[in-house]
Amino acid sequence: MKVGFIGFGEVASTLSKGLIGNGVEVYTSLEGRSIKTRILIEEMSINICKNYKEVVIISDIIISAVVPAKAVEVAREIGKYSKAVYVDINNVSPKTVKKALSYIKNHKTADAAIIGSIKKNGINVQIITSGKSATQFAKLNNYGMNIKIIGSEIGQASTLKMLRSSYTKGVSALLFESLYTAYKMDLDNEFLKCLELTECPGFRESAISRIISSGFHADRRAQEMEEVLEMMSYGNPFISRATAEFFKTLSKKLDKIDKKFEDYKNLFEKISD
Ligand SMILES: NC(=O)c1ccc[n+]([C@@H]2O[C@H](COP(=O)([O-])OP(=O)(O)OC[C@H]3O[C@@H](n4cnc5c(N)ncnc54)[C@H](OP(=O)(O)O)[C@@H]3O)[C@@H](O)[C@H]2O)c1
Repeated sequence: MKVGFIGFGEVASTLSKGLIGNGVEVYTSLEGRSIKTRILIEEMSINICKNYKEVVIISDIIISAVVPAKAVEVAREIGKYSKAVYVDINNVSPKTVKKALSYIKNHKTADAAIIGSIKKNGINVQIITSGKSATQFAKLNNYGMNIKIIGSEIGQASTLKMLRSSYTKGVSALLFESLYTAYKMDLDNEFLKCLELTECPGFRESAISRIISSGFHADRRAQEMEEVLEMMSYGNPFISRATAEFFKTLSKKLDKIDKKFEDYKNLFEKISD
């Protein structure tokens, strides 16, 4: 089995590790990539193609794991060469994924979404998928992946992902904002204790992990919230709008700051005015 990745960041490198361990040949290209991505690729035993056209031609399954803003562009550039199944795993709205996959000329496409933390779960992370070629994509379950088919239409997997994003990122933003206020008043520990009384076991650890990852991934979350907003056409999604604004502002604040945070206090210190 040959799997080609377009984009090689956290998602592609994590899945590749597991796939290679299960005997899959992984392909990608260094074409146009930053130093960060080049180092990541060169550190792993990945087959490096001259360009993405070559990746697409050689692979049985192609996974687009770029950044949300580039999902359509890459599909447009390489879609005409694809003989394989093309899977879009980017966090994009159903409308964006439909547009991206419309450029795949052989129509062998699947919409896919990662549910949960890929960092924590590695190749076992739950991936939901929908579309005509979802069944072929799910064959990667034979190589260690955890793919669940949820429908036959492109857009169904992304819809669920966007709804989940709206909920989880909204909660993270609210938690960040309230804990930051408590921190400024030297009441953060007491505030967490108050919440722990009524929240589920393990709340403190997961709350702190949410805060730190909100800081680390603020820019990506701001982009993903734009996709959520595009999808939320029912009613007036003002909480999602506020969440998008929150992550945009946080991302600007953290723009030139080293994003290594020892704990949430260290992150709050770095963004304090
Ligand atoms: N990480 C997660 O936990 C997670 C969970 C669910 C969904 N996702 C989605 O999965 C996708 C990938 O996420 P990630 O965390 O792996 O992102 P990432 O670490 O930021 O990596 C993105 C990769 O895409 C490359 N890229 C950007 N533009 C490209 C282009 N035009 N052509 C080819 N490659 C391009 C980047 O290369 P450069 O370094 O050269 O820019 C980088 O290698 C995103 O759409 C994200 O929303 C991520």
